[in-house]
Amino acid sequence: MTRSFPHRHLLGIEPLSREDIVTVLDLADRFYEISERPLKRVPTLRGKTVVALFLEPSTRTRTSFEIAGKRLSADVINVAGSSSSTSKGETLLDTALNLAAMRLDAVILRHGASGAPHFLSRHLDCAVINAGDGTHEHPTQALLDAATIRRHKGSFEGLTVTIVGDILHSRVARSNIHALAKLGATVKVAGPRTMMPAGIESLGVQAFDRIEPAVEGADVVMVLRLQLERQAGAFFPNIREYSRTFGLSPARARLAKPNCLIMHPGPMNRGVEISPEVADGEQSVILEQVTYGVAVRMAVLYLLAGPSGEGEPTAP
Ligand code: CP
Repeated sequence: MTRSFPHRHLLGIEPLSREDIVTVLDLADRFYEISERPLKRVPTLRGKTVVALFLEPSTRTRTSFEIAGKRLSADVINVAGSSSSTSKGETLLDTALNLAAMRLDAVILRHGASGAPHFLSRHLDCAVINAGDGTHEHPTQALLDAATIRRHKGSFEGLTVTIVGDILHSRVARSNIHALAKLGATVKVAGPRTMMPAGIESLGVQAFDRIEPAVEGADVVMVLRLQLERQAGAFFPNIREYSRTFGLSPARARLAKPNCLIMHPGPMNRGVEISPEVADGEQSVILEQVTYGVAVRMAVLYLLAGPSGEGEPTAP
């Protein structure tokens, strides 16, 4: 814990203040520059041990946490669901307690159950970082999204950010709504009524059941993946119908401001929620989001597992 970031864990964006978020973004900008150097390693977390416990699939989050930890000189150990003893029936708590008994400084958890990182945080001595829990939150995704937007737009005041897709099942949407509202952006969400949580307006957003009016005049359009693995029932007739009514086509993207940023957290279903022309177009910052993922995760590891009370990243 440091004076400028008064939290022991990162469980979600909801508990953070605007100042906490800005602290992470400012630090991420500094770590971003370190990642651009030929020698991308600083000794800040030398001697620290971080376990990434991923009990759901991941490419970007798991890899970027590993790279982030290694760039800070931490020892990073990856434990995946299929290769862990959870596949033999061990409970999440027993797995985590056994890992923590090896004297960890942080556990990064991705889990299919909402609230799993909160549960672990009540039982472990080390920092717990939420890398995505069920349909609840994905805080580092929202932080890297905010960092990407700030790099291009400078600030959030006066910006309209439109989030399109399966809002109901999306932890990315939930974390982004909290982050962007705290940072001062206007947030619009669009999706089929069956994929829109009841009472979503209470989070301070405007909700639309058509994509066109939500995208019109937007500064940023964030497209979400259909969470097919979380959809127990039929929320729309078929994928082609979803694509026809909510897919971000070039024509729909042109309704936004000419310098609008196109974002997607990945993985993308090309041709379903976003057309390849838009995903690969000049306004797309989708791969920049991934680049920022490393810097933001370096910042989070530094704040939660770094030397207490230090305010500056250590230069190599
Ligand atoms: N955006 C994101 O969480 O991607 P992964 O599932 O690949 O980590």
